[in-house]
Amino acid sequence: MPSSWMITGKEEGNSGADFGMGKKGIFGGLNGAMAKFYATIFGVPKEKEVFHGPVLVRRGQNDVALRGNIFSINNGGLPKRDYSVVSSGIREFDSLISSGGFEKSSSILVSGGAGTGKTTFTMQSIYYSIVEYGEKGIYISFEEDTQKIKLHMKNNYGWDFDALEKKGLFAILKIDPVEVSRAVEEFLLNKNGELRIGLEKIELPFVPDKIVVDSLSALAIAFSDDQNYRKYIRELFESLEALNCVSYLISETEQDPKIYSRSGVEEFLADAVVVLYNVNSSGKRENAIEILKLRSSSHRKGLVPYYFTPKGIAIQSKKT
Ligand SMILES: Nc1ncnc2c1ncn2[C@@H]1O[C@H](COP(=O)(O)OP(=O)(O)OP(=O)(O)O)[C@@H](O)[C@H]1O
Ligand SMILES: [Mg+2]
Repeated sequence: MPSSWMITGKEEGNSGADFGMGKKGIFGGLNGAMAKFYATIFGVPKEKEVFHGPVLVRRGQNDVALRGNIFSINNGGLPKRDYSVVSSGIREFDSLISSGGFEKSSSILVSGGAGTGKTTFTMQSIYYSIVEYGEKGIYISFEEDTQKIKLHMKNNYGWDFDALEKKGLFAILKIDPVEVSRAVEEFLLNKNGELRIGLEKIELPFVPDKIVVDSLSALAIAFSDDQNYRKYIRELFESLEALNCVSYLISETEQDPKIYSRSGVEEFLADAVVVLYNVNSSGKRENAIEILKLRSSSHRKGLVPYYFTPKGIAIQSKKT
């Protein structure tokens, strides 16, 4: 069967999250070289065969994608999607973007080296989005202890996430990446067997306006097979998009990165890539932020310096 059916975006099945991805999926609308490039990374199904079961989609003997939502919402369904522009919550950062912020339903890869401020930047975005714009936020940690994160945010910047949590405006979840990878890999192993186990969903207490996944790197190293990790993160991006919120996916890199993610696929899946640098300038370490990619708007190009202050990150957005 021709492989082009999935690349040209013909709708197959009813889920944008299945292997064919449909019109709005990552293969949709691609042509020629780019389509081939994606197909090389993700693999092209050999035959069209779709099972509309609860979690399994099969198109060829070896091609099984996870399907359906990775998240479930406590006492509720998924919101309707819209693509309105919302503030990042950090005014100086918004001023780098012509449209003034991020689209809802968009995914932002936040890449940077150790200690460059990935947690600070994303928590600052959530904090000010809550206190100044009446939003709600969720932070998913695959690494750090949640109490520790909140304590550091309070001690370092004065942001009281405990108080926001008590008001039901913020939630922080700790998830063991090994449990995720084990469940996914077991699920994929059992794809041809009798036992078709369902993947346990990550239950969110409410529909957030902003969500952080910290980090994809921690998730990646928990997987024994890169292909399985790729399948999972593709679903993760789709599932986050379905929440109709701004989602930040943190990626740990070198201090002055040339590669922005573990598998190299993440920056293609994301709607935006924001890089935090820690560069060596004449023996001094300096921080700079760069919007490397933003699908929804034109934006400032190049590195913009930022500093850590007792109120969070201050971005020197005005050109001097
Ligand atoms: N109040 C403050 N004033 C100045 N700098 C601060 C302050 N609080 C934190 N920092 C700086 O913030 C850095 C840590 O920021 P953050 O935890 O957001 O980084 P990260 O990129 O998430 O780190 P990791 O890679 O460990 O996850 C520290 O290395 C420190 O230099
Ligand atoms: Mg961090």
